[in-house]
Amino acid sequence: MNILVIGGAGFIGSHVCKAIAARGDLPIVFDNLSRGNAHAVQWGPLFKGDVRDAAALDLVFGDYTPVAVMHFAANTEVEEGEQAPLAFWDNNVGGVIALLQAMRRAGCDRLVFSSTCATYGMIEQFPLTEDRLQLPVNVYGRTKLAVEHMLADVSRTEGLRYAALRYFNAAGASPDGEIGEEHKPETHLIPNALKAAAGLGGTMKVFGGDYDTPDGTCIRDYIHVMDLAAAHLAALDRLGRYKGGVACNVGTGQGHSVRDVLEAVEAVTGRPVPYELHDRRPGDPPRLVADVTLSRDLLGFQPVSSDLETIVRTAWNFHQARWQATVVSD
Ligand code: UFG
Repeated sequence: MNILVIGGAGFIGSHVCKAIAARGDLPIVFDNLSRGNAHAVQWGPLFKGDVRDAAALDLVFGDYTPVAVMHFAANTEVEEGEQAPLAFWDNNVGGVIALLQAMRRAGCDRLVFSSTCATYGMIEQFPLTEDRLQLPVNVYGRTKLAVEHMLADVSRTEGLRYAALRYFNAAGASPDGEIGEEHKPETHLIPNALKAAAGLGGTMKVFGGDYDTPDGTCIRDYIHVMDLAAAHLAALDRLGRYKGGVACNVGTGQGHSVRDVLEAVEAVTGRPVPYELHDRRPGDPPRLVADVTLSRDLLGFQPVSSDLETIVRTAWNFHQARWQATVVSD
């Protein structure tokens, strides 16, 4: 079975490709490589193109006749979206419009879409169920919510089958160290903490120590990227069985504070994490933890690698290998 993976050279997309191949299907990666890495495309062909390019999409649909599409090719850095909203709307929403039109032309009616818990906004409900009112507080969340609405409309009128997966905090790396998290620039907690522990990133900043949480730092629901990949395959299988669409949290239901993460990094690496407390980062909700009832009941999804130790250990293995490779190739 051919699966078209738009944005398959990125962190989550590449791990999903690995999982697709592991069960005997072929991931066709379509990526403009603006953020992704060509070396992370190892399990099928790479087609370099932009999701807003209708002709390029038609070519790849024509060549590979995929039965389904997964879409990861979005701008995701919250702060960047605040500074350049039009680029976010163009890529994150315009890109999906172009993709849905190409799917219609090709007669492909199945889509797994990367949505986010950022569509909920500032949340007072724990854990968070999918039926909660979504009031995103940043451009990134608003573009993802707009696509969720668009998918529901297109599903109603054109029979699109879709799953919008609302990710919580994707983290960790492939257990064999082949691929992992490599954002440019890196803003995420775990890679930054690992860098600081390795003595490569200087002193790391902890954004906010005065939140209304037990230790004063923000709480997040970290999900291992291979678990997240498994959720995509479960969603894909569901699309084959049911018509219509669904929006579903993908998390673990467990929250960990920034300090918990730093402790886990120190335990795994055996090194201290030099850090200093800074002001809160704008737009950071104090606590984001998924209600996982729907993903369990609807997708049969159960995370198996998302304990903090496994997440940090796999990320540490990956980063060490990358840093070594960089030194050798220098
Ligand atoms: N943090 C630090 N120092 C850092 C990096 C992060 O203290 O160097 C803190 C953040 O302030 C936050 C927590 O660590 O409290 C987690 O931050 P991340 O940047 O790792 O992740 P976010 O929760 O901000 O972002 C994730 C996804 C986004 C998505 C967002 C939804 O990566 O794509 O959840 O709120 F938009």
